[in-house]
Amino acid sequence: MPDKPILITGVSGFIGSTLAEALLERGDQVVGLDNFNDFYDPARKRANLEAFENHDNFTLYEIDICNSKEVKSIFQQTNPRKVAHLAAYANVRYSVGRAELYTQVNTLGSTYLLEAARLSDVNAFIFASTSSIYGDTQSLPFVETSSCNTPLAPYPASKKAVEVMGYTYHHLHGLNFTALRFFNVYGPRNRPDTMPYIVTDRIVRDQTITLFDEGKMKRDWTYISDIIDGIVLALDHPTGYEIINLGRGEPVQVCDFVKIIEQLIGRSADLKMISAPPSEPDTTFADINKAKSLLGYNPRTSLTEGLESFWAWYRDQTPPQKKI
Ligand SMILES: NC(=O)c1ccc[n+]([C@@H]2O[C@H](COP(=O)([O-])OP(=O)(O)OC[C@H]3O[C@@H](n4cnc5c(N)ncnc54)[C@H](O)[C@@H]3O)[C@@H](O)[C@H]2O)c1
Repeated sequence: MPDKPILITGVSGFIGSTLAEALLERGDQVVGLDNFNDFYDPARKRANLEAFENHDNFTLYEIDICNSKEVKSIFQQTNPRKVAHLAAYANVRYSVGRAELYTQVNTLGSTYLLEAARLSDVNAFIFASTSSIYGDTQSLPFVETSSCNTPLAPYPASKKAVEVMGYTYHHLHGLNFTALRFFNVYGPRNRPDTMPYIVTDRIVRDQTITLFDEGKMKRDWTYISDIIDGIVLALDHPTGYEIINLGRGEPVQVCDFVKIIEQLIGRSADLKMISAPPSEPDTTFADINKAKSLLGYNPRTSLTEGLESFWAWYRDQTPPQKKI
């Protein structure tokens, strides 16, 4: 009898498609779910699926997580044993002024998935949370025991609400729920609205790049394959209820990050400095001791190595992704 599948929501996105490939490679059955929304060009999402969409162990459902009836029906049809819930509207700044949309999709949509999971026999529910939940927490590095009650924008607020609801589902229904707080993920298939993509694309096209606070902000960039390792470890280790940082633990100033990309491309960036908006935290910096001790997580990819792979992917993009 075949194994029960792992359900990945947001399977056509940057992280979801990379996770699907890794799980298929190790022999898992994967059910993928996505609504291919136009937050960014859906053609990119279709292209992300090309590497594995015809794999025998992969099934795709094109549905919206906000349709609770369809969500329940997919759980009934496929009976997943584990869920990696990645579908969401991301992007801190874009969420400002869009609290209703982010609550609808990220919070209510996630609740529909939790409800469907508790009605079936899911033994691990992994939720993609975010480092932006730490807001302007002053004590560094960020530790999971911080209260995180002052998110700076609707996006982290919508994610915090799911971490809290996850606790309720664990408490009342015994659901194993792990929230993984991802820190600034980058690599091949990066969303076009993220800094690595924007900086690279603008240097290539000779366009001006806007940096906040003289580029002095720090971000804890984490390479995609390290994040995928962390998600797979969490899927394999149901933990009751846990919140776990997945970062690299080595924050880098944005201006230094831009310098590495300039060196890779062999061209200087045209930089314009402005002050940071109130939605932007000054620093992200993960304490990864919990991930190491509970999961055996061990990020391996340096920023230079990771950006080399990202740049190689950027150059090799095939239509419809190639726009240069
Ligand atoms: N990329 C990062 O740096 C980062 C950092 C922290 C957290 N996260 C979280 O990780 C997850 C994946 O991020 P990503 O960068 O791969 O983003 P992404 O936008 O590339 O992927 C998200 C996918 O979810 C799908 N989706 C969105 N709303 C949906 C809905 N209502 N129904 C069905 N599918 C829907 C989208 O079509 C998309 O394919 C998100 O939950 C995000 O909040 C990402």
